[in-house]
Amino acid sequence: MKNKIFNENNIKTMSKMPDNYLDGIITSPPYNIATKRKDNYYNNGYSEIDNLSDEEYFDLRISEFKEFTRVVKDDGVILYKATFSTDLVEQLIDIYFEPKSIIYDPFMGIGTTAKGCISKDCVFVGSELFKEIFDESKINIKKYFNENNL
Ligand SMILES: C[S@@+](CC[C@H](N)C(=O)[O-])C[C@H]1O[C@@H](n2cnc3c(N)ncnc32)[C@H](O)[C@@H]1O
Repeated sequence: MKNKIFNENNIKTMSKMPDNYLDGIITSPPYNIATKRKDNYYNNGYSEIDNLSDEEYFDLRISEFKEFTRVVKDDGVILYKATFSTDLVEQLIDIYFEPKSIIYDPFMGIGTTAKGCISKDCVFVGSELFKEIFDESKINIKKYFNENNL
C-alpha cells in the first residue's frame, strides 16, 4: 500500500492496514457544515455528508479516530488542519517526519497531502469517498509527480 490512493471510505482503507503501519496522518476532515454556497470547494457545501446530526457526526469521527490510533505507530503523529496548501504540508513533513515516512490522508480531497509527500520523498496513502473528487486528485497527483520528477 505505497503511493496509493483509494476511492472508498477511509474505514475500508484502514481495515487493510496492519497495526502500527503509519508514521503519521495529515488530514482535514469534513466539518459537517451544510452551507448553500457552492462557490468554494472547502466550505463543504457540496456534500450530503455535511448535513448529519451532531450524534451521527461525532459517532463517525470517533470510529475513525479509533482506527487512526490502531494504524499509526506509537511514536507517530496525527496532524489536523482545515484548508491547506502544499507548502503547509511540506512544512509539517519537515517538522514531524523523516524521508520515506508513510503518511496517510483519510480525507484526501484533491490530493494536497500526496503532493507534499512527493516533494519531500515520503510515501503517501490516501482515501477519498467521492469519485469526482478522487478523479481530480488523481490528475493533480500525476501532474505534480511528472512536473517534479522528470
Ligand atoms: C475538507 S476536505 C479535504 C481537503 C484536502 N485537505 C485537500 O487539500 O483537498 C474533506 C474530504 O474528505 C472526503 N471524505 C469525507 N468523508 C470521507 C470518508 N469517510 N472517507 C474518505 N473520504 C471522505 C470528502 O469528500 C472531502 O473531499
